Amino acid sequence: MPLRLRPPRRTAPLRLMKKFRFQLLSEWIAGHLAPCRVADIGGGKGLLAYLLDARGFAATVVDPLDQPLPPKYKDLAGVRHALPAGAAVRRISKAFDPAMAADYDLLVGLHAHGSNMKILEAAARYGAGFILLPCCVIDEPIEIRPNVDWFESLIERARALGFDIGRFELNFRGQCRGFFATGTRARIREAAD
Ligand SMILES: C[S@@+](CC[C@H](N)C(=O)[O-])C[C@H]1O[C@@H](n2cnc3c(N)ncnc32)[C@H](O)[C@@H]1O
Repeated sequence: MPLRLRPPRRTAPLRLMKKFRFQLLSEWIAGHLAPCRVADIGGGKGLLAYLLDARGFAATVVDPLDQPLPPKYKDLAGVRHALPAGAAVRRISKAFDPAMAADYDLLVGLHAHGSNMKILEAAARYGAGFILLPCCVIDEPIEIRPNVDWFESLIERARALGFDIGRFELNFRGQCRGFFATGTRARIREAAD
């Protein structure tokens, strides 16, 4: 009987677990932008802000729900890190208000709720840069309509506000696509850095 060879299996690129999103995004930000003042809007427990602070940024979590930092995390090489006792990040325990953007160079919304459209509006008003990885449409001032892609509609909105958009994707499972613009205050990192 002739030997039948199976066609090679097409494998999707191996994606990291969703819990690595903070490590991946902090690495992406530090690789693309010079240290600056960052508002991590809807920043949850604050691990992204913690990792950005460690890379020389000055990050603040803006989130109405006060949550403690996680006690530990794994880096992208799989090494475990315990946060030192008393580790903290700056927090504003309020819903994001566009006027807050006056104090930051970069507004980040990683799966942020109720803030994506406000972040775009605030970035345009105050000249800040932004990075958005939007997930679901929750508490946004628009109606969910069939056949309207939330991600693309946010990009359209950003373009209408005058932003030149860049797209990117991080290597984690889940909604890992993002887009960004530098505004007038966030600086692209020099190639020689
Ligand atoms: C899906 S969680 C994402 C948290 C974190 N960025 C992450 O990736 O794990 C959404 C967060 O948005 C926060 N949130 C909800 N409404 C908000 C608002 N109006 N302004 C700022 N944060 C808000 C919630 O408290 C929650 O921590």
